[in-house]
Amino acid sequence: MTVREPVVVRAPAKINIHLGVGPLRGDGFHALHTVYLAVSLFDTVAVRPGEGLSLTLSGEGAGTTTGPGQVPGGPTNLVWRAAELLADHAGVRPDAAMDVVKRIPVAAGLAGGSADAAATLVALDALWGTRAARADLLALAAQLGSDVPFSLTGGVALGTGRGEQVSPVLAGGRWHWVLGIAGEGLSTPAVYAELDRLRATGRVPDGTEPTSAEPVLAALRGGAAGELARSLANDLQPAALSLRPDLRRALRAAEAAGAVAAVVSGSGPTVAALAGDEEGAVRLAAELAGVGVFRSVRAVTGPVPGARVVS
Ligand code: C5P
Repeated sequence: MTVREPVVVRAPAKINIHLGVGPLRGDGFHALHTVYLAVSLFDTVAVRPGEGLSLTLSGEGAGTTTGPGQVPGGPTNLVWRAAELLADHAGVRPDAAMDVVKRIPVAAGLAGGSADAAATLVALDALWGTRAARADLLALAAQLGSDVPFSLTGGVALGTGRGEQVSPVLAGGRWHWVLGIAGEGLSTPAVYAELDRLRATGRVPDGTEPTSAEPVLAALRGGAAGELARSLANDLQPAALSLRPDLRRALRAAEAAGAVAAVVSGSGPTVAALAGDEEGAVRLAAELAGVGVFRSVRAVTGPVPGARVVS
C-alpha cells in the first residue's frame, strides 16, 4: 500500500480594519461594508486519504465541547461541513483524514474557524483532484460562513453583502500590528444582537448609514501607518465593549503602550493595535505582554495571502 504525503494548507487570521454594519436584513444577517486584512497568524489543515471523514484538532482552543472558546471536533465543525460540501459539489465520496492545527485563537474576532474551512476546501480540492473553479470555491465558501470567502483570497479586500462578497483592494504598504488576545472569547451572534439592542434604544446610530469605508481605502493606497490609524473604524466595537467593559481598559492600555491606534477586531474581543514600524511592534508587544490585560499577545504583519498549499 502506498501512503500518500498529506496535503498541507495554511490559512491566515483576519482583522477588520473597517467594519461598517448596516441594518439587520430579513435573513438574520446584517448588511456589511467592511475592509478585511489578512495577517501572519495561521492555522494549518493537513489532509490524507481515508475511509469516510475523520477529524483531529490540536493547538490553541482545540476541544470537544461547544461554546465560545471551544471548537467542536465532529460533524458540526466547519471543517467537516466544508469537506461534505466540496464532495457533494464535485460528486466524489467524502473520504479524508483531516488534521487541524490551530494557532488562531477561537471566538476572538479573527476568523479562525473561517480560515480552517477555507484551508479545507483548498486542501481537499488538491487531494481529491476535483479542480474546482475559483468562482465555485468562493461560492462554497460563502455557504460556510460570511468570512470564509475572504479567508480564501487573503490580502486586503472590501467585503459587501453579509461580508461574503469580496473584491481585492489596492494596498500601498505592509503594516505591523500587535494582537492582544483576551482570556475569554465572545460569540459573534451575541455581539451583533447587542448592537441591535443598542441601536433600538438609540444609544448608537441606527445603522441606516454605516460608517464609510472611504477614509480607510484612501489610507491603504497611501500606505502610511499614521493615516491608516486615523481611519480605523468598527461599528461593532460599542457592542463588544458593552458586553465586555474590560475591553475599554485593553484599548487604553494599547494606546498607552505606544500603539498608533487600537481597535476591536471584528466582533472581538481581540484588540488590534497598529504599530508605526517593525521595531515599534516588537516594543509594543513586549509592553502589552507586561500590562496583564491580555491572555497573550502576537506581533503580526499584513497583508498576507489567503489559503495556500504549503506542501
Ligand atoms: O456567517 P457567519 O456564520 O460567520 O455568521 C455568524 C453569525 O453572525 C450569524 O448567524 C449572525 O448572527 C451574525 N452575522 C450578522 N451579519 C453578518 C455576519 C454575521 O448578523 N453580516
